Amino acid sequence: MNRPEPVRDLDWSSERAEKLGRDVVQMWAEFLEKLPEMPVDRGLRESTVREAVLRDVPAQGMEDDELVTYLRTVVFEASMYPGHPGFMAYVSGAGTVPGAAADLVASFLNQNVGGWRLGPAATEIELALMRWMASCFGLPEGAGGIVQSGGAMATLVCLKAARDRIAGYEVRATGLGGGPQLAFYCSQEAHVVIARAGDILGLGADHVRKIPVDERFAMRVDALEEAIEADIAAGIRPAVIAGTAGTTATGAIDPLAELAALAKRHDMWFHVDGAYGGAAVLVEELRGLFTGIEQADSIAFDPHKWLYTPHSGGCAILRDFADLPRSFAAVAGYIHEDKELTQRGVDMGQLSPQFSRGFHALKIWVSLLAHGTDAYARRIGHDVQLASYLASQVEAHPELELMTPASLSICCFRYVPQGKADDEEYLNRLNERLMPLGQLDGRVYLSNAILDGAFCQRACITNFRTEAEHMDAVIDMTLRIGRDLHNQMSP
Ligand SMILES: Cc1ncc(COP(=O)(O)O)c(C=O)c1O
Repeated sequence: MNRPEPVRDLDWSSERAEKLGRDVVQMWAEFLEKLPEMPVDRGLRESTVREAVLRDVPAQGMEDDELVTYLRTVVFEASMYPGHPGFMAYVSGAGTVPGAAADLVASFLNQNVGGWRLGPAATEIELALMRWMASCFGLPEGAGGIVQSGGAMATLVCLKAARDRIAGYEVRATGLGGGPQLAFYCSQEAHVVIARAGDILGLGADHVRKIPVDERFAMRVDALEEAIEADIAAGIRPAVIAGTAGTTATGAIDPLAELAALAKRHDMWFHVDGAYGGAAVLVEELRGLFTGIEQADSIAFDPHKWLYTPHSGGCAILRDFADLPRSFAAVAGYIHEDKELTQRGVDMGQLSPQFSRGFHALKIWVSLLAHGTDAYARRIGHDVQLASYLASQVEAHPELELMTPASLSICCFRYVPQGKADDEEYLNRLNERLMPLGQLDGRVYLSNAILDGAFCQRACITNFRTEAEHMDAVIDMTLRIGRDLHNQMSP
């Protein structure tokens, strides 16, 4: 065979890379400058977005300028903006600026953080970050973890470690078939990712028991005890108590210390879903709310929520870091390495379902380095104050009803036209229509909660650009659209 000639089409010069990079960074600066004035939501429809952004993949690549123009369309015409100061929906961080810069670095460095040898600095940074987070939650020496795509995967990793420890590590090979049926316990307000993990892990989602909550939407320990006793009597092995530290709907924190004690008494694993609320342990005045989290066997925590880092990155944090390889390590000839000989470190591809992995820890690490814990504590505390301020404005207005006291940075309320306070069916219809109309209004963007059957407007402030003026805008928008709707709906 003839010696092949070089093919350099994909190998850009540093000058060309710099030009494209500069154009993109300029666009980023323009985006940051324009963000507060842009609508948070453009009222985009599926067909409009498809028309704007879909292209046939060309045989000949686009010119660089054309590519930048195309990216501008994606950014300025066909997206919505969770970093907009008016965005307070779901649990979605605004996206730190240094985190975005770190993502570019992570991307051009292109480490594969599945193997230490393919990502030496990346691995050590991720491990150190996880140890630091574990210590913030009060976990002892020996704790550690791994970055996953988000809370769903972090939960799955933690509960797989739990399942294997409780059922015995042989289930990794044999499956759950031979042993007793296992059960997990979480509150009715827990995020669906816990039941989904029960499904994936072979327990069946029905064996993830949804325990009733009290008037503050926190798990009722008496009901939990009853459910555990009933399962034991039926020959089912109670395996995991999963408390939530900051529920998605209302920000409720389960009684973590009592759950930990109960888990100990029944030789169960104690997991805490701190995906949203966990960041508040950085605030001295709020730390007391989380007492008991330091006893957790595992914690799911999402930096892309209240550490505001760009999507995506969630952390599975284990009291005993060695539980991860016990649950996930796999042997394969093509990754063989004599560590004694090479003196290299931990292979992260042995610690979760993922094999090849990106350097997702960098945006979290760099955000922490750039801002420091004091700034984080100030801002997280401020978010909590904003939610309380909103609650006070709601309570002061006769056409608004606060549905539960604000907790962490969440406030749930609804619009109640005069004379309609007792008409639950009408209030649900009205508030359900109000939510999307409010989003399309473009200034502020809320989502909803359904509390005891009542459809509520829900503001969750995990956004360092949001201020009191945006809480005022929430009140204005709700009253304006609520009144319009009421006029249309009631003859
Ligand atoms: C308490 C809680 N747990 C888990 C999740 C799931 O996290 P993710 O969306 O990052 O997978 C969420 C998402 O909002 C959450 O609020």
